[in-house]
Amino acid sequence: MSSGTASTIAEQPLGQPCYADTAAFASARIVAHSRIADNTWRLRLDCPAIAAAAVPGQFAMVRIPHRSDPLLARPLAVYDTFSDDAAGQGGGSPRRYADFIYAVHGRFTTALQDMTVGQELIAWGPLGNGFQIPAVDHLVLVAGGIGQTALLSLGRERLGQTTYGPSSRPSPARCRRVTCCWGARHAGLFGGIEDYRAAGIDVHQATLDGSAGHRGTVVDLLDSLFGPTGAGCDPADTSPHVSAAADQPRSLHVACCGPDPMMAAVARWSAARSITCDVSLEAPMACGIGICFTCVARVRDGSGGWDYRRTCIEGPVFDATRIAW
Ligand SMILES: Cc1cc2nc3c(=O)[nH]c(=O)nc-3n(C[C@H](O)[C@H](O)[C@H](O)COP(=O)(O)OP(=O)(O)OC[C@H]3O[C@@H](n4cnc5c(N)ncnc54)[C@H](O)[C@@H]3O)c2cc1C
Ligand code: FES
Repeated sequence: MSSGTASTIAEQPLGQPCYADTAAFASARIVAHSRIADNTWRLRLDCPAIAAAAVPGQFAMVRIPHRSDPLLARPLAVYDTFSDDAAGQGGGSPRRYADFIYAVHGRFTTALQDMTVGQELIAWGPLGNGFQIPAVDHLVLVAGGIGQTALLSLGRERLGQTTYGPSSRPSPARCRRVTCCWGARHAGLFGGIEDYRAAGIDVHQATLDGSAGHRGTVVDLLDSLFGPTGAGCDPADTSPHVSAAADQPRSLHVACCGPDPMMAAVARWSAARSITCDVSLEAPMACGIGICFTCVARVRDGSGGWDYRRTCIEGPVFDATRIAW
């Protein structure tokens, strides 16, 4: 990890190569901070090194300076990034601002909601592997809890609206269509849904109390859209992104982020229909750079066994079939 200039692998903790070798450590000024849904806030940080390098699915560790409670940073997914230019994103000038969306749960997020524009946080990132999904016709984003934060930029990029990360990074293959199936306890919790709609993502909601969209879980919603057997694995194409690619073979891929039980259910749903699925794990993390082993998940190896893998540097995104839920 560096504070502006790239450091060598030999300088890294334990001398081991890890994804954090290219991460930056910086003081980051809050430039916008507002409540966007029940218990849900959106935070914009001035953090050029993180914003310019982050790709969909990566995260940053964020800490409140000058206080010991909480002592440790917390991982937050990079929701979107912006530059200073008139268009606000991409274009000529490099991205400078990173947006994060968080739900208030414990000591860090409770303290964070009281921070104001102009105050400084400490952030290091971008961290983790990010999504490396195959070229597919139809990408289905499945979000639960606060999991939408890891998925918006993936959808935007795959619809060809923008690209993220260093200029040397090849543009990922476009999808013909991106659908988001988003589950929450009630209608007040869909923080950022207007961003998904503005991106041209076909959004379907599920709520446990029926206050918005389909009544039930997000898996019930998947069943209602795609059929309980998966036989109709592409719901009626009403999206404006249906286009000249209609002659290409159809393929579907699921990218999922949310609480573990929900991701396990989506992984089972996908596997039962032979649909490939990536999950972005929200494991508790202490360092974010591979040192402490706080974040381990049980990940299957090729021989049928499993081993603990560090979510911060080998994830947070994994092929769902590899997770021993
Ligand atoms: C890669 C990654 C990306 C993440 N991105 C985001 C993000 O973009 N936005 C976001 O809000 N969170 C995100 N998280 C989760 C976030 O880091 C944790 O929720 C964090 O622990 C919150 O810190 P806290 O001090 O407020 O709560 P803690 O003190 O750590 O937790 C307090 C209590 O709340 C429970 N709790 C904490 N988080 C949740 C939760 N999300 N759902 C249900 N119960 C919870 C804990 O089990 C504990 O009992 C991400 C996690 C990972 C690993
Ligand atoms: S959070 Fe420390 S090793 Fe992953």
